[in-house]
Amino acid sequence: MAEPVKVVVTGAAGQIAYSLIYQIASGAVFGPDQPVYLHLLDIAPMMGVLEGVVMELADCALPLLAGVLPTFKPEEAFKDVVAAFLVGAMPRKEGMERKDLLAANVRIFKEQGQAMDKVARKDVKVLVVGNPANTNALICSKYAPSIPKENFTAMTRLDQNRAQSQLAAKIGVPVQNVKNVVIWGNHSSTQFPDASNAVVTVGRTEKLVTNAINDDEYLKTTFITTVQKRGAAVIAARKMSSALSAAKAASDHMRDWFLGSGDRWVSMGVVSDGSYGTPRDVVFSFPVTTANGKWQIVQGLTISDFARQMLDATGKELAEEKQDALDVCKD
Ligand code: NAD
Ligand code: LMR
Repeated sequence: MAEPVKVVVTGAAGQIAYSLIYQIASGAVFGPDQPVYLHLLDIAPMMGVLEGVVMELADCALPLLAGVLPTFKPEEAFKDVVAAFLVGAMPRKEGMERKDLLAANVRIFKEQGQAMDKVARKDVKVLVVGNPANTNALICSKYAPSIPKENFTAMTRLDQNRAQSQLAAKIGVPVQNVKNVVIWGNHSSTQFPDASNAVVTVGRTEKLVTNAINDDEYLKTTFITTVQKRGAAVIAARKMSSALSAAKAASDHMRDWFLGSGDRWVSMGVVSDGSYGTPRDVVFSFPVTTANGKWQIVQGLTISDFARQMLDATGKELAEEKQDALDVCKD
C-alpha cells in the first residue's frame, strides 16, 4: 500500500462536503490503492457539527482512510496537502444570481490563498467549488503567488455532466456514450454549453451529436438554457443548492486531474492564456485533456459566429467579476 496523501476539504460541515468526503475516503478520487489523510476545515461555530461528520467517517470503517484532522485553522488545514477542495462558502438562495455571492465569498478565498501561500506544498492541486467559483479561484491564486497559476482551477464539471446527461437522454443512449461536450467560460448563466464537437456512440457507430440530434434549434436554445439554468432549477425544487451532483463532479474533476482523462475532453476553469480569443488572466472554462497531473487546453477547434458571441459574453462577465473581486479585496 502507498503512503497516505493529505487532502483538504473546506466547508467540511456543509452539504456538498457531506457527500464528497465519503467519495474521497472510499477511493473514488485517488484510486483504490491510495490511502488518504483528510483535513477538514470549517469555521469555529461549526466544529460541533464537524465532530458528528468525523464520527460518521469512523463508523464507515473505510480501509483507505488513514486519519482525519478537523480544524478551523486554515494554516493547519492546508499544511502539506496534495489536493485542496475549496467548497466552503455561502450558497446561492432562490432568486439570487451567482454574482450576488461575490462580495460575501471572495474574501474567504483571499484569506485561504494567503494561508496556502505560507504552508501548502508548491505542487498542491486546488479545485474551487464555492461560488462564484471561477473568480474565487482567480483570487485564491493571486494571493498565493508562490504556487503556480496552473494549480488553481474552478469547477465546471457539474455543467459538463449536466450537458452530457441532457444529450444522452435526447438521443436515447447511456450517458457514457456521449463525449467531448464542452463548457466554455463562467460557471454561471452566461456559460456556453457547446455540443458542436461532441461525439456519441450509437450501437457500434460513432457520430457527431449534431448529426444524431439533427435539430440545430434545440442545440442553440433549449439545450443551452437547460444547462445554464440547471443550478437554479435544483434550488427552486430543493430549496437548497445542488450537493450530491456537485460532490460527484468535484470527484470527477480531481480524479481526472490526478489520474488522467484518457482520450476524453473534460471542462475545467483554468487561468486563461488568451486561447480562442478569451480574456487573459481570468479563470475561464475550456476543454482540456489531462495527463501526468497536468492539464492542456484542446487547441484548433473551429469557433462559429454563434460560438464567438457566446464566448465573448461569458468572457465579458468574467472580466467584470474579476474587477469587482479585486475591488472587494482592496478593503
Ligand atoms: P453549505 O452552506 O451547506 O456549506 C458551506 C460550508 O462552508 C458551511 O459549513 C460553512 O460553515 C462553511 N464555511 C463558510 N465559510 C468558511 C470558511 N471561511 N472556511 C471554511 N468553511 C467555511 O453549502 P454547500 O451547499 O456545501 O455549497 C458550498 C458552495 O459550493 C456554495 O458557494 C455553492 O454555491 C457552491 N456550489 C458550487 C457548484 C459548482 O458547480 N461550482 C455547485 C454547487 C454548489
Ligand atoms: C449549481 O450550479 O448547482 C451551483 O453552482 C449552485 C448554484 O448556485 O447554481
